[in-house]
Amino acid sequence: MANSKFEYVKSFEVEDKLMPSTWIVIRINGCHFHRFSDVHEFDKPNDEQALNLMNSCAVSVLEEFPDIVFSYGVSDEYSFVMKKMTQFYKRRASKILSLTVSLFSSAYVMKWKEFFPQKELKYPPYFDGRVVCYPSTEILRDYLAWRQVDCHINNQYNTCFWMLVKSGKSKKEAQDLLKGTQTQEKNELLFQQFGINYNTLPAMFRKGSCVFRDKVEDMVKLTDDDDPVKRYRKKVIVDHCDIIGPSFWNEHPDILGE
Ligand code: GTP
Ligand code: MG
Repeated sequence: MANSKFEYVKSFEVEDKLMPSTWIVIRINGCHFHRFSDVHEFDKPNDEQALNLMNSCAVSVLEEFPDIVFSYGVSDEYSFVMKKMTQFYKRRASKILSLTVSLFSSAYVMKWKEFFPQKELKYPPYFDGRVVCYPSTEILRDYLAWRQVDCHINNQYNTCFWMLVKSGKSKKEAQDLLKGTQTQEKNELLFQQFGINYNTLPAMFRKGSCVFRDKVEDMVKLTDDDDPVKRYRKKVIVDHCDIIGPSFWNEHPDILGE
């Protein structure tokens, strides 16, 4: 295109390249999901289908962006980890962030009917997003541990809170009862008053969701002797593992391997 006298406006665009050789984490969060979940009558404190829908959107993001190596989701938020050396969109923050947020949001709308065939989507869901670089794998893992600890603390509190409310307590009474209680006391309250063993609640509620590529086995065909011929391939999967301790990372060295 020929130069025009207006071209100079381009000089106002600022560079927003993310620091090289660092883990890029994009965290998105549902905007006003307190209202969104009320309007759509999500189960409290956890709506299994709403969480499955979030997970399915995260799978779409990983399938579309190969440089995202891991993601972790809880409630209305998801964190996406992009590999250290990625050159995706020249590491431009605004590109990476806006692409992730818009892909996730449109997947959410597109998949809504699949997860809620009986419910009409009443208004457009939207997400905020931020992008942060972490300089070492150790700090990245601490970041992910931070999100999972948050999941645990919130879920345990919310489980107690809604059990108390469902049993007839007012929200204020439930809040006062839980004020200052420690993990152990909350577990005891659940067990003694409601017969619930916290550790047997669904792992998705207690641990959140991890999305990553894992080796899966496919049966390609049977030989003439009826022996299966197997092939391995990488597939994006959803699991609900502990990512605070070392075992998961030791068992999946490829995910954050450099
Ligand atoms: P902003 O993110 O600041 O816009 O506010 P928010 O209303 O989205 O609240 P926040 O992100 O802090 O917390 C997420 C909120 O989403 C929770 O407080 C719940 O109200 C709601 N939420 C998320 N997951 C579920 C669910 O499975 N069931 C129900 N009932 N509500 C959920
Ligand atoms: Mg939110």
